[in-house]
Amino acid sequence: MWDQRYDRPDYLFGTKPADFLVRQADRIPSSSNILCVADGEGRNSVYLAELGHRVTAFDASQVAIAKAHNLAQSKNASVQFKLSGVEDWDWSIQYDAVVAIFIQFAPPKLRQEIFANVMQAVRPGGLLLLHGYAPRQVDYGTGGPAQAEHMYTVDLLAQSFAELELLRLEDYDAEIDEGPGHSGLSGLVDLVGRKTI
Ligand SMILES: C[S@@+](CC[C@H](N)C(=O)[O-])C[C@H]1O[C@@H](n2cnc3c(N)ncnc32)[C@H](O)[C@@H]1O
Repeated sequence: MWDQRYDRPDYLFGTKPADFLVRQADRIPSSSNILCVADGEGRNSVYLAELGHRVTAFDASQVAIAKAHNLAQSKNASVQFKLSGVEDWDWSIQYDAVVAIFIQFAPPKLRQEIFANVMQAVRPGGLLLLHGYAPRQVDYGTGGPAQAEHMYTVDLLAQSFAELELLRLEDYDAEIDEGPGHSGLSGLVDLVGRKTI
């Protein structure tokens, strides 16, 4: 399904990074080793590489990975792109920061597994940056899945990431312009947290 969605000449989610990432990127120490989860066409991983980080990114769509390679090449940026599902990724490798932006393909059971896995992939002292839609986004209809149960609430994230020292946990509305896939007034939730142990 995702290969078909990405099979188009332009970038479904644009080539610019998510607004969230631009606003939060200065929390990541320079030259960090970063993992981008379900990174799609590479807009976020390429941005982080351009900032001087060492970036690994994976996605389950072959078409997306090919477009991500092209984007990196066009910006002269170096990213280790891997074709992998969340189900097959080796989560035992730890990173200074894990970035997971709009990964709401997952229904609740898989989502909890992914959340546990991303926690494992953050090294002690490292950061998790997670960004997605709130349930009201289904009514806004400006991007994301149609199922409200895939969305995030502040309570869900506070509970799921209780071990993190929270640097930001916020539910808000904003106009975003992140390609044809994510465009218009959006109900958003941000989490940035530090793994203390
Ligand atoms: C809404 S897109 C977001 C892409 C990217 N994070 C961004 O913000 O531009 C969701 C991504 O999840 C990927 N995806 C869907 N199911 C997946 C899975 N089981 N494992 C890994 N990636 C998956 C899709 O290929 C798609 O690139």
